[in-house]
Amino acid sequence: MTQISAARTPAPEQAPHSSKTSTTSLYGGVTSRRVTVRDLAGAKERGEKWAMLTAYDAMTASVFDESGIPVLLVGDSMGNCHLGYETTVPVTLDEVTLLSAAVVRGTKRALVIGDLPFGTYQEGPVQALRSATRLVKEAGVGAVKLEGGERSLPQTELLVAAGIPVMSHLGLTPQSVNTMGYRVQGRGDEDAHRLLRDAKAAQDAGAFAVVLELVPEELAAEVTRSLHIPTVGIGAGSGCDAQVLVWTDMMGLTSGKMPRFVKQYAALRSVMGDAAREFASDVRGGTFPAPEHAFH
Ligand code: KIV
Repeated sequence: MTQISAARTPAPEQAPHSSKTSTTSLYGGVTSRRVTVRDLAGAKERGEKWAMLTAYDAMTASVFDESGIPVLLVGDSMGNCHLGYETTVPVTLDEVTLLSAAVVRGTKRALVIGDLPFGTYQEGPVQALRSATRLVKEAGVGAVKLEGGERSLPQTELLVAAGIPVMSHLGLTPQSVNTMGYRVQGRGDEDAHRLLRDAKAAQDAGAFAVVLELVPEELAAEVTRSLHIPTVGIGAGSGCDAQVLVWTDMMGLTSGKMPRFVKQYAALRSVMGDAAREFASDVRGGTFPAPEHAFH
């Protein structure tokens, strides 16, 4: 008889006879374990909205985790926000794996999602499975994200069948910047119908959530009503089940003009710049280190 070890089998999240989705609230509820995709399904059923942020390092991720953000995305936006590339296109699987592992190490509670970068899943389902498996095994992410609805259907189906939760990304898909540019998607009947079809295809393939980026508010709300899985909006208005922002944008660390969908909750760039200038001035003026910073 097979012995099931308690060490390999964590306590169930809920009573075995309860419904498929979790009834635990995302805010103030789950604290003793990581948030799962079942918790997100439960939130959709209850109409509980939730926030997702990007994260690219352990320390920042720990701040967001301690603040109760239930889902962290190690997005390929790391290309622009962390690695100094101009777009997300050059980001590699090695880079996402390294930074995802750091975010997992820095967190205890958040569901960490690793982004599959450009060129690591477009060849087909087997390539997607190989890439996603690396993120799950080496970095320890709880789910992966990939761009495209119908065009990524076989990839989504295989990953889900293999036990890897998939978040789909529709609307503006930055990995296609060279064909798509950066503009609102889903305007006009034909494009709107295509986006709705893509969202339903992702859901039917087993995706647990869909990101809607730069989509008209009314269309995003319609997609949200049509799906039983959560939608996560970015530049898609208030009708989505969840909202995501790139952390460096919403904290005011990114330089330059922000897109209008970004709300800045802090001004880190000026806070950090002021601190760096003050440090340099103290060093030049000989006031740092002071006696209390020295050893004898
Ligand atoms: O890479 C990323 O950060 C993203 C979010 C903007 C959804 O895809």
